[in-house]
Amino acid sequence: MKMKLKYLLFGVALIGLTSFSNDNLDTKYTTASKRTNTVFQASEGEKLIAKSDCIGCHKLDKKLIGPSYLDIAKKYPSNDKNVAYLSGKIIKGGSGVWGTIPMSAHASLKKNDATSMAKYILSLKK
Ligand code: HEC
Repeated sequence: MKMKLKYLLFGVALIGLTSFSNDNLDTKYTTASKRTNTVFQASEGEKLIAKSDCIGCHKLDKKLIGPSYLDIAKKYPSNDKNVAYLSGKIIKGGSGVWGTIPMSAHASLKKNDATSMAKYILSLKK
């Protein structure tokens, strides 16, 4: 009797465990994708950058033709002055700060959009 009960309990525990871990995986997966969506929607600047040509020269954490966004965020504290400076630079382009390679101008970019981009980049600092 005692043995049978043990087996029964073991079985129940096993079923419980398997379904639990499946649930757990599902939840983890959905929370993770939900989280990415929220972050993505939260940042207008990130969306604008993803739609623009920036990605051809900049990466989040690796230097390409231009400095990585994380390096830019490390160099400039997030304040109004730096946001204004960087949004101006995004529109006008230029060189000499990170090296001799120039950044192309983005003359058709709206000032507001350039500001969102600069704010997003400076928000990346850990
Ligand atoms: C043709 C390649 C290229 C493209 C396209 C490009 N960049 Fe750059 N970016 C650079 C280079 C090169 C630098 C370094 C310029 C320097 O040394 O002054 C730079 C520098 C920057 C800086 C730092 C400026 C500073 O003075 O420290 C920011 C911010 C930036 N880019 C944002 C952007 C954004 C946002 C976009 C898209 C709208 C973009 N870049 C598109 C090449 C590019």
